[in-house]
Amino acid sequence: MADPQYLLEVKNLRQYFTSGWGRNKLTVKAVEDVSFGVRPAETFGLVGESGCGKTTTGRTIIRLYTPTSGEMYFDGRDIAGPMTNELRKYLTDNIAMIFQDPIESLNPRMTIEEIVSEGLRVRGMTDKNELRRRVYDSLNKVGLTEEHATRYPHEFSGGQRQRIGIARAMIIHPRMVIADEPVSALDVSIQAQVINLLNDLKQEMGLTVLFIAHNLSVVKYFSDRIGVMYYGRLVEVARGDDLYNNPLHPYTRALLSAIPEPNPITERTRQRIDYDPQKDHDYSTEQPAMMEFGPDHYVYCSPSELERFQREYGQPG
Ligand SMILES: Nc1ncnc2c1ncn2[C@@H]1O[C@H](COP(=O)(O)OP(=O)(O)OP(=O)(O)O)[C@@H](O)[C@H]1O
Ligand SMILES: [Mg+2]
Repeated sequence: MADPQYLLEVKNLRQYFTSGWGRNKLTVKAVEDVSFGVRPAETFGLVGESGCGKTTTGRTIIRLYTPTSGEMYFDGRDIAGPMTNELRKYLTDNIAMIFQDPIESLNPRMTIEEIVSEGLRVRGMTDKNELRRRVYDSLNKVGLTEEHATRYPHEFSGGQRQRIGIARAMIIHPRMVIADEPVSALDVSIQAQVINLLNDLKQEMGLTVLFIAHNLSVVKYFSDRIGVMYYGRLVEVARGDDLYNNPLHPYTRALLSAIPEPNPITERTRQRIDYDPQKDHDYSTEQPAMMEFGPDHYVYCSPSELERFQREYGQPG
């Protein structure tokens, strides 16, 4: 059953990749028992180091993969079931993806107008004037102009290319955007501009955003809630401010300690924390599970770890 408070809900999602056969069979548990929900008009940040399963989670939601097991709902509708033309259309109408690499994801032989209008053309829109109007509208939304429409991707900077990628995603008026590391390939100075743009679009269009990043500094300022992933599992889910003020899981603490500080004095004394699952947990007698620490704050831990967190931070109200 879908929880009505969420626009997107993922429950106990598993995504395994298997290669080889017989004795050489190898299974990668890219996503292992992941559950979270994204509320309408919310930005949910999904964070974790390279290879922890963020992209796989995003690609499974838009059904580039068939989930190994688990449930997924969008606006109450089951999106984990058998793939049909109707479900494919439902997903592409509602969820758009923005990719990390604005260079690789744009066809170099297509004009910006062709690239941005593609989503409408594949939906059968043929009226040239209407297509052009929608392209201009979408370009304006991302801070580009009509003169850009006849040019080719190589004529643009990295930041502008990412704007083109966003215009392409926005033209179908999706209800949700999955942005997979949309600023990782950009210069730091350009990152903030693209993040601000996404934020503006979110306010203007009431968009719901799943924002994937490998470190917390990028999602810190604009995620309503954040899920921290480690080796395929979500280890902590909390409101952004709770995660920064009360990080519970040792991996979350390690990620936070890795954020450079703008202040050179505190930066010099900043201590990096390493996360070592063998040392940091004793799961020999107690099994960990996702536990509720407080309202909207969940942590993957054992019962005695939860007790310790509650002693350290006091019972949240
Ligand atoms: N199509 C695939 N076939 C087999 N293994 C895969 C496939 N896609 C991903 N994996 C494996 O699944 C794990 C998770 O990969 P994924 O790309 O989801 O990580 P990520 O968190 O997005 O990492 P990054 O920050 O580097 O983008 C990795 O071990 C990866 O090698
Ligand atoms: Mg990735």
